[in-house]
Amino acid sequence: MAVGIFDSGLGGLTVLNAAQSRLPDVDFLYYADSARAPYGVRDAEDIYNLTKAAVADMWDKGCDLVILACNTASAAALRRMQEEGLPEGKRVLGVFVPLIEALTERQWGDNSPPREVEVKHVALFATPATVSSRAFQRELAFRAIGVDVEAQACGGIVDAIEDGDMILAEALVRSHVDALQRKMPEPQAAILGCTHYPLMEKEFQAALGAGVKVFSQGTLVADSLADYLERHPDMKGSGKGGYFTTGDPARVSDRATQFLRREIRFQAA
Ligand code: DGL
Repeated sequence: MAVGIFDSGLGGLTVLNAAQSRLPDVDFLYYADSARAPYGVRDAEDIYNLTKAAVADMWDKGCDLVILACNTASAAALRRMQEEGLPEGKRVLGVFVPLIEALTERQWGDNSPPREVEVKHVALFATPATVSSRAFQRELAFRAIGVDVEAQACGGIVDAIEDGDMILAEALVRSHVDALQRKMPEPQAAILGCTHYPLMEKEFQAALGAGVKVFSQGTLVADSLADYLERHPDMKGSGKGGYFTTGDPARVSDRATQFLRREIRFQAA
């Protein structure tokens, strides 16, 4: 039995890691479309087609539930996949909603009308495709009013992380935070709206300053998943867990092992 966790590359490992600590008895099947990462510079149609193909492969491998641990795929593909209809017994969930619920201090499943919330000035750091989709702002508008969101499209950070060039990644974090602060000098909160960015969370926090509350998705998504599986215990799938990549398994394994500081072995998808 395995729950599927999908990302274009290594970023979803930040969600997987939190989910494994929160749900130690659940097996996970992690799938990285590394051969086609980054997704964040592609157009919505392309991201939709790639995500749909990868998720179909995960279903073939025995998953019934797939978490898109990728904001870019959640923004460009999730709603369309759900609207077009999923195969019987299969479900796909994204990563925006738990984050927005935390930001707006709502309980899971609270469907009351949007209301005023504590945080008024929010910085959103995400990939170019996520920023241009405006999916985050759309989901936020269902739950909160009067929140000013300034989005910064963070070109280059995902590529640098996938290449293991953390010096470049750090320089890019600083320059994207600078660019954001020129548009919004004093954000109260910052959203790391790409699952790769928690790998640079310390650098984001340092550049933003200690007064800015930084929200990232790992634990929030893991808690939501635990809640979901409690209500749907039959969604744990029939396949075996493991790590799959469309890229070079040895290279992806080395990077994953470096990021999670434990041995991770990928196999060809
Ligand atoms: N980790 C993906 C996300 O959360 C990243 C993207 C990419 O491939 O550009 O958006």
